[in-house]
Amino acid sequence: MTPQTKSKERVRDLAEVYTSEREVHAMLDLTKNFSEKIETRYLEPACGNGNFLVEILKRKLHTVTSKYKKQQDFEFYTIKSLANIYGIDICQENINEAKARLHALVIEHYSFSQNTKKPYSGFYKSVDFVLNKNIQVGDTLNPQNNIIFTEFTSPKLYFFKRREFLFRDLSMQNSYLFKLRPIQEHMITKYLELDYVG
Ligand SMILES: C[S@@+](CC[C@H](N)C(=O)[O-])C[C@H]1O[C@@H](n2cnc3c(N)ncnc32)[C@H](O)[C@@H]1O
Repeated sequence: MTPQTKSKERVRDLAEVYTSEREVHAMLDLTKNFSEKIETRYLEPACGNGNFLVEILKRKLHTVTSKYKKQQDFEFYTIKSLANIYGIDICQENINEAKARLHALVIEHYSFSQNTKKPYSGFYKSVDFVLNKNIQVGDTLNPQNNIIFTEFTSPKLYFFKRREFLFRDLSMQNSYLFKLRPIQEHMITKYLELDYVG
């Protein structure tokens, strides 16, 4: 079992008490049909070191492994799973840990599903690109925050389109009343080349 706190100071300053694995499972089981779907988007606005994010990715990757045997499909849907998971935390150390855990989980699933096959060139660069966009430091309680939310969609197989929004626009209570405008749109890009575009 991993400890749920790191120090008294961190509990006081950050309200940092991690959720136990058992509770994470129980909570995600409440939305079982959704958490297993590759396409379901999850956002954790105070994600800590990623306890929920890791379990959500595990569930999505379980679906990927059972549905997609071909290596290229496995890679594309793995990145798609990751691209639908978002985590924000005010503490850089937590974000580093969360990203490292998600990255390690992808490596573990790759060898579990694809055995000794070598990943296509660019795969792990794209994994890290998505992690750097989606798992980020930010103050989600500050309405003036400049957090950027990256939307990844796949208009065709093996490709992604990226649009960026201001998180504060998405979280506005009446955001459903008007059409949200992206602050930036990017060209459609092959899944192995996401990090070419910046
Ligand atoms: C109770 S812990 C929960 C961590 C994680 N969600 C879990 O269940 O294991 C609260 C987290 O909120 C983060 N936090 C505190 N204030 C925040 C803020 N204003 N914006 C974003 N994250 C914040 C802390 O760094 C800490 O990791």
